Amino acid sequence: MKFEVQPTGTPVDAEVRGEVLANPAFGRVFTDHMVSAQWNREKGWHDARLEPYAPLTIDPASVVLHYGQEVFEGLKAYRQPDGGVALFRPERNAARMAGSCARLALPALPEADFVEACELLVRTDSAWVPSGEGSSLYLRPFMFADEVGLGVRPTDSARFLLIASPAGNYFSGPLRPVSLWLSQEFVRAAPGGTGAAKTGGNYAASLVAQQEAIMNGCDQVVFLDAVERRWVEELGGMNLFLVQDDGTLVTPALTGTILDGITRDSVITLARELGYTVEERRVDVDEWRKGASDGSVVEAFACGTAAVITPIGALRWPGGEAVAGDGQPGAVTTQLRQALLDIQYGRTPDTHGWLRRLV
Ligand SMILES: Cc1ncc(COP(=O)(O)O)c(C=O)c1O
Repeated sequence: MKFEVQPTGTPVDAEVRGEVLANPAFGRVFTDHMVSAQWNREKGWHDARLEPYAPLTIDPASVVLHYGQEVFEGLKAYRQPDGGVALFRPERNAARMAGSCARLALPALPEADFVEACELLVRTDSAWVPSGEGSSLYLRPFMFADEVGLGVRPTDSARFLLIASPAGNYFSGPLRPVSLWLSQEFVRAAPGGTGAAKTGGNYAASLVAQQEAIMNGCDQVVFLDAVERRWVEELGGMNLFLVQDDGTLVTPALTGTILDGITRDSVITLARELGYTVEERRVDVDEWRKGASDGSVVEAFACGTAAVITPIGALRWPGGEAVAGDGQPGAVTTQLRQALLDIQYGRTPDTHGWLRRLV
């Protein structure tokens, strides 16, 4: 795909940008440009360009607005010690998006074009990559069905877009353990469904459970499997690990109903290198509950691009709670978080080839 470059004539004033970068929230302010491309059955991908960030015009009868045929991704660009910028494992996001597209009957975007789009936007808007501790430029690639018509059938037309937003820490304030609400009534994904795809419908379906978590004083919801309501799956937007007292890390296996997190994969690699045993298997929620009270589960943490590695404090359900360890960030959680951040921010050699240096 050849991206035509149409730079903005009215970039955000450097002083205003500086104020945003000094205190970035999450996903509220966007950079000067975006990338877009169009697909239809006759022409394939075409009209690929980098252009000024701007609202879209879409027909009210566009398929996505009615049937939710869309996918998205999330990845970050990090400021490096020498002032340069690097993307973290963008080819993994490209591959995951291709898998999501296949599940949602959307056209695949060639993985090389996905990565090139990310590189082009970050290079063009590199002044928007913050340099403060824990901050980064969050990239949001997405694709949606823009065919006009209310018939329920796979779209003949789709649009790919990529936008970027300077990001601070996902959970505001200093690093603190998050509390989780164990959803009783709601599930996120069922076998044969879309749980392994990154599609808006999964998030739409999780919101009422997240609302319930907040009403119960918790930060996030954690879901059990849809069939037995017994096996721990993941949070609304993060994967999950338990740390046992023998130093083994346990994380729910990729059964098709949870997202194949790139942070999860990176944590597994780093943990093994640091000498820990990592088990990917089914995790019974009672193993967590009992383990927290008898001391065999000493730490729990969540992980994802937005929240990096975040310690989990209490797991709560109606009438009960379990707290692994002392509820404070544990030693293994802290060690892995530091190891991952050191790679992402270029403070330690990138022995895995995870960073794609752009500037
Ligand atoms: C449901 C869900 N699980 C897990 C993750 C973590 O995935 P990653 O580490 O690739 O960001 C995310 C975030 O993208 C998510 O939305």
